[in-house]
Amino acid sequence: MSVRKIPILGKESIHVGFNLVQHIADTLLDTLPSSTYVLITDTNIAPLYLQPIAATFAQATDAHFPDKSDPARPRFLTYTIPPGETTKTREGKAEIEDFLLRHRCTRDTVIIALGGGVIGDLVGFVAATFMRGVRVVQVPTSLLAMVDSAIGGKTAVDAPLGKNLIGAFWQPSYIFVDAAFLRTLPLRELANGLAEVIKTAAIWDEAAFALLEANSSTLLTCLSPSSPALHLGHPLLTLIISSINTKATIVSRDPREAHLRGLVNFGHSIGHAIEALVTPYVLHGECISVGMVLEAELARAAGVLGQVSLGRLRRCIESYGLPSTLSDKRILEAEKRIVAAGGQAISVDTLLDRMSVDKKNAGKLKRVVLLERIGKTRELRATGVADEDIRKVLCPAMRVVAGTPSTYVKPPLPPPMLELPDADPTQLSGPVPNAHIPQASSATPVPIGKPATDVPHITLSTPGSKSLSNRALVLAALCKGTCRLKNLLHSDDTQVMMAALEQLKAATFTWTDNGETLVVTGSGGALSVPPPGTQLYLGNAGTAARFLTTVCTIVSPSNTTDASQAQMTEITGNARMKQRPIAPLVTALRDAGATIGYLESEGCLPLSIKPLGRLPGGTLMLDASLSSQYVSSILLCAPYAAEPTTLTLTGPAVISQLYIDMTIELMRAFGIEVTRERDAVSGDLLNVYHIPKGTYRVPESGEFVIESDASSATYPLAIAAITGTRCTLANIGSSSLQGDARFAKEVLEPMGCEVVQTETETTVTGPPKGKLRARGEVDMEPMTDAFLTACAVAAVATDGGVGEGAESGEGKNVTRIRGIANQRVKECNRIQAMMDQLAKFGISTRELPDGLEVYGRPLSQLTRGASIHCYDDHRVAMAFSVLATVVDGTILEEKRCVEKTWPNWWDDLENRLGVKVEGVELPKPVKTNPAPKTPETIPSILLIGMRGSGKTYIGELAARALSLPLLDFDVEFSRECKQPLRDFVLKQGWAEFRKAEIALLLKLMKTHGRGWVVSLGGGIVETPEAREALKKYAKAGGCVVWVQRESEEIERYLESETERPAYGEPVRAVLERRTPWFEECANYIFGNHTALPGGASAMGSGALEAEVTRFFGHVSGLRPNLVPSNANRSYFLSLTYPDVTPALPKISELTTGVDAVELRVDLLRESGSQLPSPTYVSSQLFALRRVTTLPIVFTVRTVSQGGAFPDDAPAEAGKLLNLALRLGVEYIDVETTLPPSLVQEITTSKGPSLVIASFHDWTGSVTWDGVTMKAQYEAAAQIGDVVKLIGRANSVSDNFKLQEFVARVAEASKPIIAINMGTAGQLSRVLNKTLTPVTHPLLPTAAAPGQMSVSDIHRALHLIGLLPARRFFLFGSPISRSPSPTLHSTGFAALGLPHTYGLLEGESITDETRAVLASPDFGGASVTIPLKLDVIPVLDCLTAAATAIGAVNTIIPCQSSSPEKPRLLLGDNTDYIGIINAIHAVSPGLRAPDSALVLGAGGTARAAVYALHTLGAKRVYLYNRTHAKATAITEAFPSVPILVLDKLGSWPASAPSVVISTVPADATTIKTGPGLEGKVYLPSNLLDSSIKGVVVDMAYKPAETPLLALAKHVAPTWARVPGVEVLLEQGDAQFEHWTGRRCPREIVREKVLQWYNA
Ligand SMILES: NC(=O)c1ccc[n+]([C@@H]2O[C@H](COP(=O)([O-])OP(=O)(O)OC[C@H]3O[C@@H](n4cnc5c(N)ncnc54)[C@H](O)[C@@H]3O)[C@@H](O)[C@H]2O)c1
Ligand SMILES: [Zn+2]
Repeated sequence: MSVRKIPILGKESIHVGFNLVQHIADTLLDTLPSSTYVLITDTNIAPLYLQPIAATFAQATDAHFPDKSDPARPRFLTYTIPPGETTKTREGKAEIEDFLLRHRCTRDTVIIALGGGVIGDLVGFVAATFMRGVRVVQVPTSLLAMVDSAIGGKTAVDAPLGKNLIGAFWQPSYIFVDAAFLRTLPLRELANGLAEVIKTAAIWDEAAFALLEANSSTLLTCLSPSSPALHLGHPLLTLIISSINTKATIVSRDPREAHLRGLVNFGHSIGHAIEALVTPYVLHGECISVGMVLEAELARAAGVLGQVSLGRLRRCIESYGLPSTLSDKRILEAEKRIVAAGGQAISVDTLLDRMSVDKKNAGKLKRVVLLERIGKTRELRATGVADEDIRKVLCPAMRVVAGTPSTYVKPPLPPPMLELPDADPTQLSGPVPNAHIPQASSATPVPIGKPATDVPHITLSTPGSKSLSNRALVLAALCKGTCRLKNLLHSDDTQVMMAALEQLKAATFTWTDNGETLVVTGSGGALSVPPPGTQLYLGNAGTAARFLTTVCTIVSPSNTTDASQAQMTEITGNARMKQRPIAPLVTALRDAGATIGYLESEGCLPLSIKPLGRLPGGTLMLDASLSSQYVSSILLCAPYAAEPTTLTLTGPAVISQLYIDMTIELMRAFGIEVTRERDAVSGDLLNVYHIPKGTYRVPESGEFVIESDASSATYPLAIAAITGTRCTLANIGSSSLQGDARFAKEVLEPMGCEVVQTETETTVTGPPKGKLRARGEVDMEPMTDAFLTACAVAAVATDGGVGEGAESGEGKNVTRIRGIANQRVKECNRIQAMMDQLAKFGISTRELPDGLEVYGRPLSQLTRGASIHCYDDHRVAMAFSVLATVVDGTILEEKRCVEKTWPNWWDDLENRLGVKVEGVELPKPVKTNPAPKTPETIPSILLIGMRGSGKTYIGELAARALSLPLLDFDVEFSRECKQPLRDFVLKQGWAEFRKAEIALLLKLMKTHGRGWVVSLGGGIVETPEAREALKKYAKAGGCVVWVQRESEEIERYLESETERPAYGEPVRAVLERRTPWFEECANYIFGNHTALPGGASAMGSGALEAEVTRFFGHVSGLRPNLVPSNANRSYFLSLTYPDVTPALPKISELTTGVDAVELRVDLLRESGSQLPSPTYVSSQLFALRRVTTLPIVFTVRTVSQGGAFPDDAPAEAGKLLNLALRLGVEYIDVETTLPPSLVQEITTSKGPSLVIASFHDWTGSVTWDGVTMKAQYEAAAQIGDVVKLIGRANSVSDNFKLQEFVARVAEASKPIIAINMGTAGQLSRVLNKTLTPVTHPLLPTAAAPGQMSVSDIHRALHLIGLLPARRFFLFGSPISRSPSPTLHSTGFAALGLPHTYGLLEGESITDETRAVLASPDFGGASVTIPLKLDVIPVLDCLTAAATAIGAVNTIIPCQSSSPEKPRLLLGDNTDYIGIINAIHAVSPGLRAPDSALVLGAGGTARAAVYALHTLGAKRVYLYNRTHAKATAITEAFPSVPILVLDKLGSWPASAPSVVISTVPADATTIKTGPGLEGKVYLPSNLLDSSIKGVVVDMAYKPAETPLLALAKHVAPTWARVPGVEVLLEQGDAQFEHWTGRRCPREIVREKVLQWYNA
């Protein structure tokens, strides 16, 4: 075993190697003798390593102490605690200390900390204070701990106010770094540790950094099982050792963090502040990754760090998948979750605030490590930085402080400390950086001398041109020899190009001159295929993709003769790149003999390109109408062909000739002369190019200076123009081929600037501020990108314009820019963008077909403080920066968008141009509660499924239930094609039909994207595009519902059907092919099965309708079917059956009093199978759904959590949980112990359903006051909408501890189910409030030991005084025959409630009534005739319904907050609810009827009108014998359109679809004749038999009233509601108001009907 020893603080106490456990045991027994060794670890690591370690220690002990009775023989104890940051607390520390004390550990104890940084920090701190300090040994197991936290002796715990605030320096006796532990480390933790490795390399060790840059893919895959084993020479080990070396060196020189040691905090000053806000969702290393980039930006802004180094750092961090900005989606996601749980949002102020509790701050300045370049910091300690500067890097927006360039000079940083105050250099080991004084920073503003006139004069060179940089890189790489490229653009695009060229071994690159010069050593065209499995990743760099496609064809084929080894070079890009066209180039190259394949979509990246060595050359044709980059690509490589090449450009018109000329120009500079053919007669240039054979040569000087980007150059020049100062730009002049180089001469000069241009330099001097002339008309076609700059300058040009349309300045202020139509399709619609944003300054503009007019205004009239939206477009941001230098307070909203072409624009603006900028945090849009969903605004619901599966029928029901219109795809298709679908297929064939079908689908998704139910054709899934479109739709939050039916049923149905064209193949084959497609496209499944287990008997009438209503209401989010969150208690019943169907007939009895039903999926068993199959589970659910609409809790309980589902089948569990979501199940139980990826999958796709995150301790060892339960709470609260924690009670006192726990976490906003199992835990079940699991006496077994029924719990609550008995009454007369006592008493009894219901008969409100109302045990009252109005004066308040109806039928006592009157009496009227509910019971989807009719005009008629109004009736007809009474009602409901009828049977508008009679039955008749004159005659055309209406008769005797009889005979399609049903429904509503519990309807109804029929 080889062990590498590294010294720290003068001792060789760091041991690095593989499989060190034996070594550890021997070393400790030999050199740290003790009576007790205590190993402390976490529950992730214990199962992996504890047992073998203990065994090794036991053996080693035996070897050292062969005599078992030797008193010196030590003990070996182990203790395991929960993992994660939540354990690193004072409580966690106390728990370990209690363990040590219990085991009588003494001062000679040696504690071994086995684990990640959490264990190391916590256990280290325990050791530091236990018995005033005991020895500790660190055995880090995470990469982060190995390279960082275990080294240096810093220990700490967290406090609620911040991380690591309480701790000590406590040096371990040993640090054993055993890389073998890494094998089990999760990938995310590996990257997390690599962040610290990157940090250490960045501050101290450039070689290590280069290793990191080059090996990201190797390092990220080195732990996967398929990778070769790690060894000491592996890059990972090299990096671990160099990191440890560096940290050991630093710690040794500065053990107590006086100066130098502060350097390892690079990235941490800001990183820790971020971490404090997003813990535990984002890991430490991830936070410091963002911190490093931001702190590096701080260094760049201070002029300390160059853009090249910053770019390297950022790209290195990103290449490990680590976040680099605050807008990384991991951070945003974490913020969202934390805010949702009531936590703090991330803002610049909260971050600065968090930074201010940093231990290392120095007064007002915050300490930040400033990087000077990779491998070196500015000084040997952190530098004090002002808040203002930090704010600038943290802020997403910038404010430009208007002022004259060069007048702002930033305060300098404090002088650097370059030597440690009292360092003893002889003590050092490891590399020591040579700190030298940074060269005079190039950042100081350079006001060059005094120019002729005494205006300020700025000289600078702007970033290199992107187009030239990319060309120069390819040319230099293809050269033989070394070429120095100067002024190269440092951007992501060029970086991508360099990385790809390096991977092709085309060249090597090194930076010199602090990043000013790139040294390219070219291979002369000898390129090789990258190793198999690597793809060249080009991001969204279009130029690189186009150029490299040809470059890859000239890669040399390798020597292997093995044909199967035919290697190809593969190039790919990001999602956007994969859509950008490349076909014309590929076609041309294929014609020229290349072999290029499309790996994904035709015409786009990724490509696979065969290495040819050389192209054959000769004649080549290329369509150049789309992009000039295709032409340049071929030109650049053509010299390397076997024969001279002639390239002919075809296509309608050659685009961007300038860029082609640019390529030819550069090729000339590198020694290849391209000639362009001329027409022999006319002499005109032709689109034919001749390229000779040859090799590129490095220019004579050995270097090539890349011209500055001419578009970028326009901004500083425009600033000079607008501020009346002077600016000289090097590297851009009259010889430039870039169109935008003309901007100075052709735009600024005519506006009154003095422009001096040499071949390579441009100087602009502006006229005095405010004196710019309008440009008049200018064609900017050759310099389109500069038009935005022109607009900014034109905004203040007020003199000399083109006239007309001039707003104010009589035409002198008009600048008319033309020839820029293409700018509408750039990063954004730039013409629109300029018009919209200029308007914010008060500038008027007018759009032209190919440009715009800008009407300049005097500076003094411009609006200050405008906040400019930049559309993520760099040019918009920089153009408005120009205007901002003269208009005070202008804010540019997205500062980062400049990164594309001028990453340090804001720094340059301040440091070089001398214009101050300030960071601004924009107010976050005020979060209003999301508007409640309305049917019109939800994404349309798409139904798919086989023909014959009932799509149309289900669609109709769903549409009705959601009050949405239904669109039938087939009908729409026929309408569009103006012929029946069948004819279309017969005439044009299936292929054409599918084409037309997808076109229509895409169109409908746009035109009918919201507020529809759309039933799609069965074959829509046959086309891949349609499948993609559907999947995308579902992913974006829409519902795609697969209506599923048994195959046999579908076959049977289709065999008899003729309307649609036949398939031409067996139905079964079609079904089998499409089923997986339906499955993949749909995010929901609606089971429309005909034969259900349990038989048809279980399906009451209306069951399917009720299920459609529930399902679509829930999945659409319109009416999530959840337990009301305001219920004071809620219960769910656990169904513990292998097959639930036997329970279905008695489900209503079983669910008495519960709010939800739990399906214990783990207990379901088909005969003979081990696990329930998804098909079985679906059919069980479908069956259950036909008998109850209560929300379902879907639980797959694993064995270790007390269930029956195997622990080792998470994939199967995952399948079932996903299935549940697809089936529209309301609550999904997710165990916290499931794999995190699965948990994530469920929580992100749960839609309107809720997750119950559960943890069960069956051992009884997890206590409610320990860290484990707390850790489980945190874990569950992260995942779940509801937290479920189940412990086990050993004694009744465990229930009190549970209650204290619940009280402690109560502030957290998540509802919690907390219960102790076992009989001793029953009290916890009684006291639990949310979703208490209950059983029922009729169930075969209880789901858990100690489980009780609802009535058990209520009785127990009553006995312990938490549910006092109340008295309820009926007031009115006569009431002796009322069903109400039966109704309510039955309900109370069924639920185990101790209440009573009695009669208080009387025709008026008496003293007795008042006494009852005042008695403390009064629970509520029903009120009937004649007291419905008289009772009002004795009440305190009325509900809106009671007020509108003008009568009270229910009295509800409520708590009030006033001490004088603690109880208020509220009057309500539930009659209208009874009407609505009774109607919905027979017609679930009924909403907003067009017309409805009410018969009668008494009190009940008022309730009926109110009910119809609530239902959304558009029109109510009212008929009453006495017209005047009817009119009185219209006056009582002024907002309801009521039409009083004189006569029944003829309607002023549509016939009513709801008819409610409130007339006593014996006052109506369906016959005419003598003796019946006094009655209301119901004509036979009262009910329109052509519609499906609902008729309600409020009279409840006799059972069949004349109205109901009429309906039965003349309108059998109508649903009939007898009065007793309304009575039951309104009683239900009363019951619910009074008790807060759902009424056990079935039991109550049975009793009431018995009474009724008696
Ligand atoms: N003291 C210091 O100088 C210092 C420096 C940096 C960080 N820290 C602290 O370190 C902590 C972070 O350390 P961390 O990232 O190691 O976190 P950690 O200890 O929580 O470990 C990360 C996760 O990986 C698991 N794990 C560790 N090793 C494993 C292995 N070999 N196989 C499988 N799983 C394994 C752990 O159980 C845990 O779930 C933070 O609290 C931070 O403040 C301290
Ligand atoms: Zn750290």
